[in-house]
Amino acid sequence: VRQFKISSGTSSYEVLIGPGSLGEASSAVRKIVGQGVGALISDSSVAPLFAERLQQNLSRQGIRTTLITVPAGESAKTLERAGLICDEMIQAGLDRHSFVIGLGGGVIGDLSGFAAAIYQRGIRHIQIPTTLLAMVDSSIGGKTGVNTAAGKNLLGAVHHPSLVIADPELLTSLPRREFKQGFAEIIKHAIIADAEMFEKLAQASSLRSFEGTEALAPLIQRNIEIKAGIIANDEEDRSGKRAILNFGHTIGHGIERAGNYRDFFHGEAIALGMVAAARISTKRAGLTNGEAETIEQLLGSFSLPTKLPAGINRQKIVDAVMADKKFERGQVRFVVTPKIGSAYLSSDVTLEDIEDAIAQL
Ligand SMILES: NC(=O)c1ccc[n+]([C@@H]2O[C@H](COP(=O)([O-])OP(=O)(O)OC[C@H]3O[C@@H](n4cnc5c(N)ncnc54)[C@H](O)[C@@H]3O)[C@@H](O)[C@H]2O)c1
Ligand SMILES: [Zn+2]
Repeated sequence: VRQFKISSGTSSYEVLIGPGSLGEASSAVRKIVGQGVGALISDSSVAPLFAERLQQNLSRQGIRTTLITVPAGESAKTLERAGLICDEMIQAGLDRHSFVIGLGGGVIGDLSGFAAAIYQRGIRHIQIPTTLLAMVDSSIGGKTGVNTAAGKNLLGAVHHPSLVIADPELLTSLPRREFKQGFAEIIKHAIIADAEMFEKLAQASSLRSFEGTEALAPLIQRNIEIKAGIIANDEEDRSGKRAILNFGHTIGHGIERAGNYRDFFHGEAIALGMVAAARISTKRAGLTNGEAETIEQLLGSFSLPTKLPAGINRQKIVDAVMADKKFERGQVRFVVTPKIGSAYLSSDVTLEDIEDAIAQL
């Protein structure tokens, strides 16, 4: 188990990573919260797997937690649900010195983090991600929030965790399709910031090489470092630096929306969005055709989609992309990669480029 520190502008926190780190969670939590009381928030699929073990370990350190379980899935990420959670926290007698542990995927991370951000104007939040996507992406960066009927993540707060514990052993129970989609964000990180990691992934060139927890731990650590490094100087998402994390996401979000968030997992839609963004990058940012093909091949070798399935309504995707609030003022801002390992926000991409790329996908 390795421990390292992340500094992110105004805050810094510890990350505990490696197989077996859940077993060491309680002493790490104790260092942060003392002998306090807190809420353990999880979902109906994850809680039965790990919550009891964690609560027992914590209580041995004198830390008492109330388990709050929400239904598994994106539909739990609502303001109503956050309110119910806060009500339960009040009933359990939590005060402003208490804390929240989020045990689950990105849904639980966002929802529990939001509850922690608003409870008594903000109490400490500990992230214990249980999906690959949450370990390499959503648990880092401090973005928390809920969805509304009008769209995803429209309400939220920036509230950094006090501690993140990433134990790859927890991923053994994760459904394969969920595991796979985490690699879309890993490959994204490689494309935008780490040519060496891209090369390593290309050499491994399959999911199988990363099924053991030994190989996963350093990969997760590297991805946490990349994301933390990118947001370190742009916490509030203002300068545009953080925007490169959206590589593949403009068209990817359109694909998710056009599929009513049912047909594609986020990572699958983003894989398709990255194929399109790579092609646009050959036109507008000087990426070589060879590199664009390598990107496509790498995604394919991790069993991520690189072509839209037959019968998909492409116009629906174009409409969904255009409806995105970022396009409201006509000025297109699109993340491109000039070379694997780097990316920037460009104003040279046109709406036509995007339409063409979707047509070719
Ligand atoms: N805050 C951020 O910066 C950020 C970044 C990316 C995504 N997100 C958010 O993350 C969410 C998606 O996260 P996700 O993909 O982790 O989804 P998720 O939390 O819904 O988890 C996926 C499914 O896997 C199950 N599960 C989780 N861990 C498991 C385990 N170890 N074993 C068995 N089953 C397990 C869950 O119950 C759920 O059904 C979205 O709401 C998205 O908006 C946030
Ligand atoms: Zn994403």
